[in-house]
Amino acid sequence: MCGIVGLIRQKDAAGAVLEALQRLEYRGYDSVGLGVIDHKLDVFRKEGKINVLLDSFQGQFPEGGTAIAHTRWATHGRPEVKNAHPLSDGGIAVVHNGIIENEASLRQELIKGGALFSSDTDTEVILRLLLEDGGKVEDALPRILPRLEGAFALAILDERERNRIFFARRHSPLVLGIGEKENWMASDLSAFLPETREVIFLEEDRWGWITEEDIEIRRNDGSPVKPQVKIFPWNPVSAQKGRFSHFMLKEIHEQPRAITDTLSDKLSPQGLHLSEDVVALLRKTKRIQCVACGTSFNATLAFRSWVENIAGIPCEVEIASESRNRPLFPSEGLLVIAVSQSGETFDTLKAVEPFLDAQVPVLSVVNTTGNSLERCSTAILRTHAGMEIGVAASKTHLAQLSTLFLVALQLAELGGTDISDELLALRRLPSVLETVLGMERDIKEIAQRFTATQNALFLGRQRHWSTAMEGSLKLKEISYIHAEAYAAGEMKHGPIALISKEMLVVIIAPFDDHFKKIYGSLREVAARKGRILLLTTKEAPEVSEAEITLVLPTTIPLLSAFPALVALQIFAYWIARERGLDIDQPRNLAKTVTVE
Ligand code: G6P
Repeated sequence: MCGIVGLIRQKDAAGAVLEALQRLEYRGYDSVGLGVIDHKLDVFRKEGKINVLLDSFQGQFPEGGTAIAHTRWATHGRPEVKNAHPLSDGGIAVVHNGIIENEASLRQELIKGGALFSSDTDTEVILRLLLEDGGKVEDALPRILPRLEGAFALAILDERERNRIFFARRHSPLVLGIGEKENWMASDLSAFLPETREVIFLEEDRWGWITEEDIEIRRNDGSPVKPQVKIFPWNPVSAQKGRFSHFMLKEIHEQPRAITDTLSDKLSPQGLHLSEDVVALLRKTKRIQCVACGTSFNATLAFRSWVENIAGIPCEVEIASESRNRPLFPSEGLLVIAVSQSGETFDTLKAVEPFLDAQVPVLSVVNTTGNSLERCSTAILRTHAGMEIGVAASKTHLAQLSTLFLVALQLAELGGTDISDELLALRRLPSVLETVLGMERDIKEIAQRFTATQNALFLGRQRHWSTAMEGSLKLKEISYIHAEAYAAGEMKHGPIALISKEMLVVIIAPFDDHFKKIYGSLREVAARKGRILLLTTKEAPEVSEAEITLVLPTTIPLLSAFPALVALQIFAYWIARERGLDIDQPRNLAKTVTVE
């Protein structure tokens, strides 16, 4: 979702700022813009991708050393040039990530005062407020920021002050980077990591400015804040595709490593080794409520099945945007688990707030560092999948699952259950996944068979309902095939009406206690001539009704989602590739959804 980059140095900031912005392309966007101060402020905007902007101005931008740039994912107003950021007037340029919730009333007030708006964006009220104030940005910001409701990360240029870039943030991420005679700001540190690893994660409600040599951070009341500089470890390989055609394929192949790394600080040769604060929270836990969005939500669905079955702890899961508006039922022993690879998903952040206000502890599972969710959580578990660039999550999901599995095991162990078999199977999981990756060619051939499919239904029971959900999400996200997931038993209550010889039905049924029941659903699909792709294991009896059977390597039933998920990711990837689609940046999608 919207990306912000700002850079200040002696000269030639425009090219570098756009290069950095390209590293944020994975967030998803539909228009782009650049503001540069050389002798004066110049703004360049285009609908479409960064390359369109570069091509149409042949990369020729002013040589000034003060620049901000932005990729916009349309919320208020269509993705047109007039709505692209920076919004500028009177020598001031503003880029914004987030949503100003009281935009309508501010706009009305400004119009009454004679302001003329040139865009449909909520961002423009910030520009107009600055112009109306008329003071220096440094003086105007503390007057204006308290009037804004909602979420914002801002970068602001003022022609009168060419040696400063101003910033402000509330609820939307913004990080600063300290370079050699240059300083950076960005909505995600991956933008400037190749340039500097000295990073400042801005707290909530901070504003200030960067110059070539300095960084000033202020609270809302204007009092200065001492910057906390962190050195961020970074592996440049994560930002390169290497031998792969797409980041998503590379990230699918990185999954055995992502799991090994994720487990590395949570297991010891003796067994579980979760941090003390996490274990202390789990010790007190009698009931769990999970909140998450998208793929992370699917991880919580899998977790529910594990924690209820292995540890006997009741667990509710809720989509974060829904959870926000439900009444809370806090009780002693309630633990909220928030799952978010970015830790910046707005709905997830908002969902945990009321629990924290009610003194309910929140344990977060995150993949990035310095994110907003971890900062407000009671305890965190970090997955170590590494940076994920493909918009559709793959390795971060399996890293989340392996972490959540450990949480379920820890709760079981605290309850006196022997978990040694499960731990052993978990340690062996990376090599099971290597076997699935070795099946890519077979899976590709299966995908080629179904490339023209228009509709797909994914079915699974119990722990494989979440597998079906994630398999269908991957397919729709990157191939644009209409795909739905159902708990297999529910199929006969509606979706069965859709089944015909055109419908692809993917059935996830490793051989386990649920196999017989799901076989019943499979026969119901076959009787209606649906095209069945069955994912199972070698222990299962032959299923003649399936058009294709993909035999996956065996692990313990509790972990059988892992190999199935890898196969479903590869399946979705190859269908999308055969259809010639933009796999790493699917249309309309954003990697980090920082708006409501
Ligand atoms: C977006 C992404 C999804 C992701 C979801 C939640 O919709 O496109 O891939 O699963 O956000 O993101 P989070 O960072 O909270 O896991």
